[in-house]
Amino acid sequence: SLEQSLRPQRLAQYIGQDRVKHELGVYIEAARKREESLDHVLLYGPPGLGKTTLAMVIANEMQVQIRTTSGPAIEKPGDLVALLNELQPGDILFIDEIHRLPKIVEEMLYSAMEDFYVDIVVGQGPTAHPVHFPLPPFTLIGATTRAGMLSAPLRDRFGIVEHMAYYDVDDLEAIVKRTADIFQTSIKPSGAHEIARRSRGTPRIANRLFKRIRDFAEVADQNAIDEAIVSRSLTYLRVDEAGLDETDNKLLRTMLDYYDGGPVGLATIAANIGEETDTIAEVVEPYLLQIGYLKRTQRGRVVTIKGYQHLGVPYPEQK
Ligand code: ADE
Repeated sequence: SLEQSLRPQRLAQYIGQDRVKHELGVYIEAARKREESLDHVLLYGPPGLGKTTLAMVIANEMQVQIRTTSGPAIEKPGDLVALLNELQPGDILFIDEIHRLPKIVEEMLYSAMEDFYVDIVVGQGPTAHPVHFPLPPFTLIGATTRAGMLSAPLRDRFGIVEHMAYYDVDDLEAIVKRTADIFQTSIKPSGAHEIARRSRGTPRIANRLFKRIRDFAEVADQNAIDEAIVSRSLTYLRVDEAGLDETDNKLLRTMLDYYDGGPVGLATIAANIGEETDTIAEVVEPYLLQIGYLKRTQRGRVVTIKGYQHLGVPYPEQK
């Protein structure tokens, strides 16, 4: 499908994340030369930056199979054993949201990762007995929004740890142009630039906005996406001039209106705007910190001068 072809297959086709790409390129080439499995890889960073895509690219480059699952989907040790049991030597097991693995499953991963075995209990009651279960050498790729959410024992078992950063506008522009190409839609450079500039540094957002803007252009019988149709569409989509959505603006606005711009704690803000604390911590706040609208202090989050300017509110004198 078109959707699938949006995912690059090779490292060379993957746009941005140059440091990560370069490092992984070295480790992949070295493992292949030695005919070994790749060491375990931890990818961390905000959602939508291409962690799953990168895992698939790694599998392609290593020419191995990848099995994909997520932390919450593995409920009990037996679920993990079933997954591990299907791996061929060198294969990749990808666990998204790996910080949400149940503790007893996580503990089972330690020996699987370090020495390629699991000890399981077979049978129930008086017939229950431990079984030593050897595994083929495999690569675990874990993805999480923040490395700090993993326990130290799990984190320490990843030989390769890579941070995924927000994309700059140039890289996002290249991604939007590539997407337009795949969708056989013509787009002006100014149109691609404007989508890139207003996508919160996130390819998943850029591609989603692109698809909706393409719909607006289609209905308006406009043959190429330009800056004007992007701007008009984004007004409908409630994405503001800086690329912030309603949740971002609600957070900033609430901090000004009820807490004089802070400092205020994350849980308090979350309760005020009716979002999960985790969503604020992992999705909303990181980008606002990145663009300097918000900063972290000992006593909580505060809105910066830039944040005030964004909302068109004068920065208080005594601050
Ligand atoms: N689509 C989404 N993210 C991408 C990336 N980093 N490179 C190429 N295409 C993408």
